Amino acid sequence: MSRLKLLIWYLKRPNLYFELLRIFKKIIFEKDVNIYKKISSTNLNSLREKVISDEEIFFELTGEKLSNFFTKIYFDFIDEAKDKIEGFSEKMAGYDNNNKGEIFFTSGGSNINLIFAICESIGARNVLETGVAYGWSSSAILFSIKNRKNSKLVSVDMPYPGKNNDQDVGIIIPTDLKKYWTLLRYADKEGIPKALKILKNIDFCHYDSDKSYDGRMLSYKIIWDNLSKNGIFYSDDIADNNAFIDFCRKNRLKPLIGSVPSVNGEKLFGLVKK
Ligand SMILES: C[S@@+](CC[C@H](N)C(=O)[O-])C[C@H]1O[C@@H](n2cnc3c(N)ncnc32)[C@H](O)[C@@H]1O
Repeated sequence: MSRLKLLIWYLKRPNLYFELLRIFKKIIFEKDVNIYKKISSTNLNSLREKVISDEEIFFELTGEKLSNFFTKIYFDFIDEAKDKIEGFSEKMAGYDNNNKGEIFFTSGGSNINLIFAICESIGARNVLETGVAYGWSSSAILFSIKNRKNSKLVSVDMPYPGKNNDQDVGIIIPTDLKKYWTLLRYADKEGIPKALKILKNIDFCHYDSDKSYDGRMLSYKIIWDNLSKNGIFYSDDIADNNAFIDFCRKNRLKPLIGSVPSVNGEKLFGLVKK
């Protein structure tokens, strides 16, 4: 996509003007435009060595046996959701028409079984999520929190730049669950502070949006500072760069590391309990 087309895309979305200004600033003032900053091989090996199973992660976090499998309980929702997004011409994370089984694990989706089970176990009421795409992880969270009074999920999502599928963000989320859901269509830097005004504190956070090093470092800190005691923070794609490891080291946190299969082999995610 040409720079002019991208500029027009941003200009049509006033919620993203601050993001556009940051892009200009980066292009004009910063020589190093490698915003993702690839992970070092030492850190990658260290993460891989720490990978444990979902069952072990769940037990470490809650002291319970993992038995609430979202994909088994809500298999009819999964089938309907797959049908809904099948054949979309502009695809987002969580779409894989080659995969016959678990659509959400193989193309950038999240570990929705673990996310659901954690929300159930801790009785999550105030949940923050960054990165919605079709809404796999949002749905897993909403199916859990719907059973609790005064519960809410606030999601922050800036649509994929250049694509015209804003209307598909959250498309698989069942209509009757949307009353527990607020979608803030902003980049994290504006969206997370707005979300915190609604949530005040956070029982569970699933981070799956801005994958740049600086973006993560900034958001991880704000999220961590606002996580309730015993709250749980889950970050996706932690092997993209050094941000998750650096953040945990800086704050002396001992994360639990998990892995899900993906089209590129594996995807690592990390969890920390406050
Ligand atoms: C990997 S997808 C999320 C997948 C989703 N959690 C799921 O389970 O299907 C990432 C989403 O974050 C959005 N995103 C990317 N950068 C962002 C940013 N800086 N701020 C907010 N959202 C962003 C993308 O447009 C996309 O919708």
